[in-house]
Amino acid sequence: MHKGIAIYPGSFDPPTNGHLDLIERGAKIFEELVVAILRNSEKSPMFSVAERLEMLKELTASLRNVRIDTFDGLMVEYAKSLDATCILRGIRAISDYEYELQMALMNRKLEPTLETVFMMPADKYSYVSSRLVREVAQAGGPVKGLVPEVVEQKLREKLDPAYKLRNTRLIEVLGKRDLDRREKKRKKKA
Ligand code: PNS
Repeated sequence: MHKGIAIYPGSFDPPTNGHLDLIERGAKIFEELVVAILRNSEKSPMFSVAERLEMLKELTASLRNVRIDTFDGLMVEYAKSLDATCILRGIRAISDYEYELQMALMNRKLEPTLETVFMMPADKYSYVSSRLVREVAQAGGPVKGLVPEVVEQKLREKLDPAYKLRNTRLIEVLGKRDLDRREKKRKKKA
């Protein structure tokens, strides 16, 4: 186990099973892992920082060496303020590599003592991203298996109209009886 603190920074909007997989892997190799949510993201987020904080806290409650925090401004400065020695980032596919390499090298330029460590999530999550999860959920599509159940529930609450609209469309296509049958099947499986 690597002594000291590692930071796993990101937007986590929302946290996915890929994020959780990486947190679990990171927790096995770092003495302490701080999952740090960026507060000043320019993008307009789907979930508030407080909501993301709450979800991540719940999801990592059983991991004793994992802590959830938020940060603003330069990540390397936040890392230094914690005396962290490593930055953890996930790489899913080659397409992630270019951006991650650029960011790691910029962070190294800003703070040469901080090392970036890349880990791969399980291959079953290699196509899962927060952006795609948001897109599917916003269109009322199923995100089961892509995000933890608590996140799935929060998405449902937030996007209830999208799910209702999808059901209305399905009713038009399948008819109410078929839909009830599908729902029964789904509940049986769950
Ligand atoms: O989950 P994301 O959106 O890929 O995470 C990106 C994040 C938050 C790690 C990155 O944008 C970041 O560290 N932002 C903080 C500002 C900063 O330090 N920028 C310089 C990075 S080279």
